[in-house]
Order: sequence, then C-alpha cells, then structure tokens
Amino acid sequence: MEIRLEQVSKDFDSVRVIEDLELLVHDGEMIALLGPSGCGKTTTLFMICGIHTVTAGRVLFGDRDVTHVPPQERNVGVVFQSYALYPHLAVAENIAFPLRIRKEAKEDVEHKVRKIAATLHIDSLLTRRPGQLSGGQQQRVALARALVRDPAVLLLDEPLANLDTGLRLEMRSELRRIQQATGSTAILVTHDQAEAMSMCDRIALMNEGQIEQIATPSEIYVRPRNKFVASFIGSPPIAFCSGAVSENMFKGPGFKFELPERLQAAAIKPDSAVTLGIRPEALQPGLDIPVSGMIAFVEPQGRETLYGLQLPDGNMLRSVQAGGSRFKLGEHVRWGLDRESLLFFDPDGSGI
Ligand SMILES: Nc1ncnc2c1ncn2[C@@H]1O[C@H](COP(=O)(O)OP(=O)(O)O)[C@@H](O)[C@H]1O
Ligand SMILES: [Mg+2]
Repeated sequence: MEIRLEQVSKDFDSVRVIEDLELLVHDGEMIALLGPSGCGKTTTLFMICGIHTVTAGRVLFGDRDVTHVPPQERNVGVVFQSYALYPHLAVAENIAFPLRIRKEAKEDVEHKVRKIAATLHIDSLLTRRPGQLSGGQQQRVALARALVRDPAVLLLDEPLANLDTGLRLEMRSELRRIQQATGSTAILVTHDQAEAMSMCDRIALMNEGQIEQIATPSEIYVRPRNKFVASFIGSPPIAFCSGAVSENMFKGPGFKFELPERLQAAAIKPDSAVTLGIRPEALQPGLDIPVSGMIAFVEPQGRETLYGLQLPDGNMLRSVQAGGSRFKLGEHVRWGLDRESLLFFDPDGSGI
C-alpha cells in the first residue's frame, strides 16, 4: 500500500512541530524516519496511523484519503516504543486483541495467532503474561500483535530501542525479513542511523519538523544534500574545515589540491568560501593530497583504530584505519586525502 503525505503540518497548542511535510512511501517499501530526538518522527508516525489529527494537509493510502479516517479503520499495524502490551492478558490474548475487536471467528483467531507466533518464534510463550517475558520477547509479542491482521501498513516507533545490543542486531534482520516476507509497506522511526541504514530501502532524514533529504542509504552517505545531513549520517562523524576555491583549486589550512572534475563543472565563483567535508575513511596514510598534522587522539576499536589529526590551524580531522594503532599520540604525520570522496558545501551549508 502506497503511503503519501501531502503538505502535512501539525500544531500542538499553536506551536508548529511539523511543517509542510511531503513524503511518498512506495508499496512494499520500508522507509526510515531518522533524526534527532524531538524532530517530529513520532508525531509524523502518529498522524499516519491516525492517533494524531493533522492540522493541515492530507494523508493518503493508495488512492484513499485517510486524513479523517479513525485509526482502527486504517488497517495499520503499530508497534509503540513502549510495546504497550496489556499486562493482565496472556501473550496469546495480547496478540489476538486486534482480531477480537474485529469480532473474527474463534477458530480463525486461534489459527492466526498460532501462525504469527510460529513466525516470530514465540509459540512457546503464548500462555505467559508480558511481565514474565524478557524485553526481546515482549518486542516480538508487540510485533506479532501488529502483524496478526496482515496490515497493509506497518508503523514501528523505535521498536528496538529497549533491547540489548546483541538482540537489537539480531532483530534488525529479523524485522526486515518479516517485512519483506509479508510484503507490507513499513515506516521505521529511529534515531539510530545504523538501524536506518541496515534495515530500510530509503531514509527520510528529519530535522526540526522538516525532511532534509530522502534517499537510499548509500546516496544519503555519498551525496548528502547539506551539512546537517552530512554530519548526522556517518560514524565516526565527518569533519569540516573551511577554505577558498579559485581556479579549480581548493586551499585549506596547510594544504591545497585540484578540485575533482564534478566540482570543476559546478563553476564555483572565484575566491568563494567553501567548506570541505572529510569523512574518516577519506583521510589515510599514503593518499595523494598531502595533509600534515599532529596526532591528537588514538582510539583502538578492535578491528580498526580511530585517530584525531590536528591541523596547524587547530582544526581536527578524523581518520579510521584498519588494524591496531600504528601511530602515537603527539606524533607528526603526513597523511593524504581521497579526492573523489571529499564533500563540498557552499556558505549556506548546501552541498555543491
Ligand atoms: N502531545 C504533544 N503535545 C505537545 N507537544 C508535543 C506533543 N507530542 C510531541 N510534542 C512536541 O513535538 C515535537 C516533536 O516531538 P516527537 O514527534 O515526539 O519527536 P521525536 O519522535 O522525533 O523525538 C517536540 O518538540 C515535542 O515536544
Ligand atoms: Mg519519538
């Protein structure tokens, strides 16, 4: 089921928290609403499922305008961040709840509950109460309840946020598998970029009630539309340093180089101020654009090492290098930049 938001805005007590949001989620697609806490992800999700009314604009499921349709008539499955299970009901009854509301026949309900419980590997837990389950098990029950009526639209609000790291990683691929197997159109709200990247077809990156960019995980990483997107996506984060462009050369603090062809074609005004974005993998020993500095921190991370390289002007770049640490704190080094993966931003922060 295709989901479309047209010019959707939301006010709480005359404070605008969502502004003219446009979003198209294709049938069968899983999209992430990603962004910092308070940017409006949950509010957007709740307008799609009908828990919140919209102040302006329209919500469409396929050709159907559901803007004023109550939640129970939208055929959406929702998993809340808190799971919101009924503590006094057994797992089987929790899962059966949406079917009972629809007054489905007893045998049908039992059959569907058993089937979805098997899919989520919780068939042995059906007689327990939520309080007797681990966080991961509760999460599966909440998901089973959302999926049991085979919803066309699956809405997930930080569903993995309460889980331990190991289980969270396992559930990422599990959730994605179920979404693909059921063919549902899904929206995943998360503040965790790794989750958004690994689970979703596309990412809508939100900031202060607006969408900054919608793109595939690789596009949004390689071609961020602006500095906000570039700094939100990528871990360890990108570093910025300012410089000037003239005659197809970028002059930064202590280094200069010829612009990549893509930028030469962009015809940047002579002597204009440009910000350079350097991801940690774009700064490595032995690359062709030389950059000198002092090693300001060394953080071994097992498979790789993160270094901080301080430039003569005090600017700090980051470098992630495979293997254990080979350089020492305070050491002066001459490393290099990878021209093709450098990012450039104009003075208002837009990507060039
Ligand atoms: N029911 C509400 N009443 C008033 N303000 C709200 C309500 N729900 C959310 N907000 C405000 O709307 C903004 C977006 O919140 P929310 O959608 O929960 O953000 P996110 O899910 O991205 O963390 C925040 O400033 C929040 O304080
Ligand atoms: Mg939220």
